Amino acid sequence: MSTTVNRQILLAEKPTGKLGPEHFRMVEGAIPELSEGEVLLRVRYISLDAANRAWMQSATYRSAVEANSVMAGGGLAEVVASKAASLAVGDIVFGDTGWQDYAAAPAKQFTKLPKIEPMTHLLSIYGVAGLTAYFGLLEIGKPKAGDTVVVSAAAGSVGSIVGQIAKIKGCRVIGIAGGKDKCHWVTNELGFDAAVDYKDGGVFKALRAAAPDGIDVYFDNVGGDILEACLPLMKNFGRIACCGAVSQYDAAPPAHGPRGVPGLIVVKRLLVQGFIVMDFMDRREQATADLLGWVSSGQLKVQEDVIDGLENTPQALIGLLAGENRGKRMVRV
Ligand SMILES: NC(=O)c1ccc[n+]([C@@H]2O[C@H](COP(=O)([O-])OP(=O)(O)OC[C@H]3O[C@@H](n4cnc5c(N)ncnc54)[C@H](OP(=O)(O)O)[C@@H]3O)[C@@H](O)[C@H]2O)c1
Repeated sequence: MSTTVNRQILLAEKPTGKLGPEHFRMVEGAIPELSEGEVLLRVRYISLDAANRAWMQSATYRSAVEANSVMAGGGLAEVVASKAASLAVGDIVFGDTGWQDYAAAPAKQFTKLPKIEPMTHLLSIYGVAGLTAYFGLLEIGKPKAGDTVVVSAAAGSVGSIVGQIAKIKGCRVIGIAGGKDKCHWVTNELGFDAAVDYKDGGVFKALRAAAPDGIDVYFDNVGGDILEACLPLMKNFGRIACCGAVSQYDAAPPAHGPRGVPGLIVVKRLLVQGFIVMDFMDRREQATADLLGWVSSGQLKVQEDVIDGLENTPQALIGLLAGENRGKRMVRV
């Protein structure tokens, strides 16, 4: 990486169907100048998130990413120059750095992080993925020992942590993932009790066999057909934590929604609640302490999938949407 040139990846065009490399373009420019209150960041790791694709569709919990702008994305970065009192050179921060070598932005848009090794854990287990799993499962799923917990995208960054926390809480855990290898991994390596390969067809039947007494908690990362398969299997007073809908992100028009809504929700008295991890950030310290404890004791395994090179970021996202990743995918810049 040059120290005088800032490489940036733009969203060249908004996809109308599946995301492809043609939707991105790399440009080179000068390293930005700082205004008062801003910091200059050298981006170290870019977080690849399924939501990156959803941001191209329309406004979500943030504004949409528009064509010909730097592709938005969370990143871990080091402060290399500062005109803000709150951040000093050498500090490590997290925020929307975008897909580029350097970012200049107001310091208040970034969160200062502790220096830990490996640094990548600040994006995975102690970052958005770990905190999403922690708060979504514990605050909305409210699992009790003995409950049956189902999680989709189970081998992904959020799902792999959800299942392990549910095991720590004494639950019976069923993961739903694409392909035999991922199913084998979540049961044999992560300790889930069972796994359903949704690409093998017949998700409802396979889930019913894996959870013959029904589901207490469904942590939904995918929406669509898998949510539809889970609904009839929910126990009365079950909880569905709606975390995301990755099955709907990389297509146009969006797939049909689940049937059985609201009928099954009423009859089964389900709690169905969406959440955004940012809502819980004031309790981050407690969550991080718990996660640290579980990682240190070996109860929680951290899986990271690090890809080298800013230029490979578009393909890394395309691959994530196709299910290439296990655990937290990120790009080392
Ligand atoms: N609410 C929040 O605050 C919050 C925060 C972070 C993330 N999220 C959500 O959490 C979910 C996971 O995101 P992530 O960034 O951690 O990604 P991830 O789980 O690491 O990767 C996405 C995975 O989704 C699976 N997938 C792709 N298409 C699918 C489909 N049609 N049906 C079922 N599974 C499919 C793929 O695995 P397979 O090989 O198994 O298909 C892929 O590996 C997303 O819905 C995201 O929006 C929400």
